[in-house]
Amino acid sequence: MTGLKIGFIGAGNMAEAMIKGILASGIKAELAVSDSSVERLEVIRTVYGVEAVSKDNKRVSDFADIIFLAVKPQILSVVLRQLKGRVRDKLIVSIAAGKTIEYIESILGDEIRIVRVMPNTPALVLSGATAVCGGKSALDEDLETVRSLFSSVGSCVIVEEEKMDVVTGLSGSGPAYVYQFIEALSDAGVKMGLTRADATLLAAQTVLGAARMVIDTGIHPAQLKDNVTSPGGTAICGLHELEKGGMRAAVINAVEAATEKSKELGRKK
Ligand SMILES: NC(=O)c1ccc[n+]([C@@H]2O[C@H](COP(=O)([O-])OP(=O)(O)OC[C@H]3O[C@@H](n4cnc5c(N)ncnc54)[C@H](OP(=O)(O)O)[C@@H]3O)[C@@H](O)[C@H]2O)c1
Repeated sequence: MTGLKIGFIGAGNMAEAMIKGILASGIKAELAVSDSSVERLEVIRTVYGVEAVSKDNKRVSDFADIIFLAVKPQILSVVLRQLKGRVRDKLIVSIAAGKTIEYIESILGDEIRIVRVMPNTPALVLSGATAVCGGKSALDEDLETVRSLFSSVGSCVIVEEEKMDVVTGLSGSGPAYVYQFIEALSDAGVKMGLTRADATLLAAQTVLGAARMVIDTGIHPAQLKDNVTSPGGTAICGLHELEKGGMRAAVINAVEAATEKSKELGRKK
């Protein structure tokens, strides 16, 4: 992608991750960033060399062809009202959790091209898992553009908006489940005599490595599991204990519960 003019309204954690990813990926883009905090703007200017920083959101929206709305969900309505009437022919990309496309269209108008995104925090280390969906006027190429941009900070899929609750329950909330799994592995290592530092590093690297095997080889996880489970060996003994503990059902229940919670929170808004 070349010659993109990309604006960020809100320069917090997620915007910073995206800026880092875009710069690291070599995508040719001119960036402009606004935020209510001068300190955040200074970070973006000094660390990432983005000179077009401003406290004025309208300057960013006037400059950019693609405008990321990267403020907290409770601030979104303020920003949308500032943009109303000034974003015709622009692509609006909202990362505000739980805010529907219908809500954004109700303020900006449904003729505006809108893409909604659900990223997760590992985007901060360029390993995010993101889902995107498009509004009534969003073009297929808009979804592809946004997918490419989020691919610079990890992996990205296109889904229908009704799937955003399960995305929230799986990849949005998923880092919390995996941190707990890593912590449990580490506790187990300590119980069996490793230092905490060694146990945590081995646990985290094992999760990272296994995830890379799934993604890089494309082999089904069950096959990869079979490949490391020798007859009468150690892994099958450990797996038997996980089955007795109901690990699979617990994980499925966790995603189901988080998905239902996301739906419930959406209904309350
Ligand atoms: N972090 C995640 O894991 C994650 C995951 C999925 C989705 N998201 C979504 O991503 C969005 C941003 O999250 P974040 O973690 O990056 O939040 P954040 O770090 O709090 O960043 C938001 C930034 O927007 C600034 N801001 C507040 N009011 C503003 C306004 N009127 N105009 C311009 N800037 C304004 C804030 O400044 P002040 O601090 O001075 O208020 C802050 O610097 C949220 O909507 C969240 O739902 C985040």
